[in-house]
Amino acid sequence: MKKIITYGTFDLLHTGHLNILKLAKEYGDYLIVAVSTDEFNELKGKKAYYTYEQRRAILEAVRYVDKVIPEENWEQKISDIISYKIDVFVMGEDWRGNFDFLKQYCEVVYLPRTVGILTTQIKKDLGRTNKWLEKLQ
Ligand code: CTP
Repeated sequence: MKKIITYGTFDLLHTGHLNILKLAKEYGDYLIVAVSTDEFNELKGKKAYYTYEQRRAILEAVRYVDKVIPEENWEQKISDIISYKIDVFVMGEDWRGNFDFLKQYCEVVYLPRTVGILTTQIKKDLGRTNKWLEKLQ
């Protein structure tokens, strides 16, 4: 069985996320998604709308995803790859080059991002809509 792993926050799950999960799954049979915990996000200066538990539950309901594990720090990738016997490590191409050091443990693949959608933009757009609605009230 060929196993794949990918990492991310996956907040407000959108079609860009679904596309990369689908593409990632095509590299093998079993896809593990390591999801940034709330504590790790805080360390990165990021604040997700959904809690880790909510993001995990949503991802577990996605048909391409076989297992969700917590991403708690930057250093766990090598031990994850070894302990889960990973064959392919997948990330969006915004990370190109950053994880080439993992090539001694498994195949490393950077996949194209979906153009025109990202969680940060969704949050901005909803913020604008809310302000506009408040003005009407
Ligand atoms: N991703 C993608 N296409 C998009 C958005 C994200 O392929 N349009 C991929 C990223 O490259 C990453 C994974 O989805 O491999 C998780 O990305 P994440 O950073 O959680 O999502 P973003 O929508 O980019 O969130 P943010 O705006 O907070 O960075």
